[in-house]
Amino acid sequence: LTPQPTVFIIFGGTGDLAWRKLAPALYNLYLDGWMPDHFSIIGTGRTQLSDEQFREKLLEGIDKFSRSGKAKPEQWETFSKNIYYQVSDLKDEKTYQELGSRIESYEAEWNQKADLIYYLAVAPNFFPIIAENIAKKCPSEGLDRTRIVIEKPFGHDLESAKALNAQLQNIFDEKQIYRIDHYLGKETVQNIMAFRFANSLLEPIWNRNYIDHVQISVTEQLGVEDRGGYYDGAGAMRDMIQNHILQLLCLIAMEPPINLDADEIRNRRVDVLRSMRRFDADAIRFGAVRGQYGHGWIEGKEVPGYRQEPEVNPESNTETFAAVKFFVDNWRWQGVPFYVRTGKHLSQSASVISIQFKNVPHSIFPAESAENWQQNRLIFSIQPEMSIRLQMQAKRPGLEMTLNPVDLVFDYSGTYAGKPPEAYETLLLDTMLGDQTLFMRSDQVEAAWELIMPILHAWGNKKSLSFPNYSAGSWGPENAEALIAQDGFHWFTLP
Ligand code: BG6
Repeated sequence: LTPQPTVFIIFGGTGDLAWRKLAPALYNLYLDGWMPDHFSIIGTGRTQLSDEQFREKLLEGIDKFSRSGKAKPEQWETFSKNIYYQVSDLKDEKTYQELGSRIESYEAEWNQKADLIYYLAVAPNFFPIIAENIAKKCPSEGLDRTRIVIEKPFGHDLESAKALNAQLQNIFDEKQIYRIDHYLGKETVQNIMAFRFANSLLEPIWNRNYIDHVQISVTEQLGVEDRGGYYDGAGAMRDMIQNHILQLLCLIAMEPPINLDADEIRNRRVDVLRSMRRFDADAIRFGAVRGQYGHGWIEGKEVPGYRQEPEVNPESNTETFAAVKFFVDNWRWQGVPFYVRTGKHLSQSASVISIQFKNVPHSIFPAESAENWQQNRLIFSIQPEMSIRLQMQAKRPGLEMTLNPVDLVFDYSGTYAGKPPEAYETLLLDTMLGDQTLFMRSDQVEAAWELIMPILHAWGNKKSLSFPNYSAGSWGPENAEALIAQDGFHWFTLP
């Protein structure tokens, strides 16, 4: 399975994403033999650059971020011959005419029609104008040949997401639209489906009868860095929960699909979003917590509070932390809470899903033998540690019957050599192959927005008087502890 000859057009070619993620991903696909014999990568941007200067910039990104390390001169030489740059003004039709003629010239040279991938790594307000112009001026006919790839944020709320979907669907077929949620491309995230559906052991206990609750934590030590301009208009709920975290929740909660077809799997994922309990005022009050970091310390380094970050409103009401208790109201999950939390400038960077099982129905062990009693837990550690662990109780060696929790561990680094592909490698290859499984369909995006809109409204309408309410470097606001402690649980962290 190798892709057809492809022209890859990156709008926003001089941007951070192209530098940090796209170029290293394409380069590694090339090294691993996944790129077709004929391909061209055209970067576009406002800056005046020659092809050579653009190549040098991408090489810098590859040397810095590629999982295979610094590029080797011979390999880079042959790869980079396929990279070109075009100065562009996204509002000017000429940009698209020029792109169109470039594409035609490659096709003439290859004596073959190419697959065309238009990658929109630009601010979302440009999506509609690019889409319209591509349709008018560039080759875009033929469902199988043309794809448009879109980065988040996909809308700012339900209404704008619907409008954007309508605009895009007016021009392209849903089968041509690839909405990226890079979490779905992560190796450990793809393994959730494999682990759940390729083992017979789990399915009988994967339900409300055996599972007590589920936790999804995506915590980051990083602050907003230089993204204050975007982030201050978004916040943790829009930036992480609407997309990445709800998609993780879908993978944990989805029903078994009947096969691996993209739409079959996406149907099962959207079923979860549709079954999720809607939020009323009480559910928001008791089941959703927001936070904003103040000044603090990260690994011994002093960092400013969120309101002091560049491009952030000094009176900002934007949340940099959010924790929510969700329920999936269906036969399998009735009554099982799904606690999720995410935040910037927290104590640890870790993405971890913990499935906590119910206690044994009757303990035969005397209290003193079970001091370290822990219920069974299955832990998907997505990053930075890549592992799946099953926490069990076992006997501690010795003459007495003392119980001790132990882990059965599948650790990637101990099991496989080498670094697994980066999310963007998987996603770019899937785009070239025309496989939409790991991309967001319009109805998924809208269902996720619909679910969280009441919380966003409530938070938007009422300024939080307590911001900042956690110090950078801590585990978030106290209320986040209370959210889960009121049900008798604690947030799980890997040691
Ligand atoms: C992005 C968010 O989608 O995901 C960022 O916009 C966040 O704010 C990032 O830092 C986290 O991704 P990863 O792959 O580093 O966990």
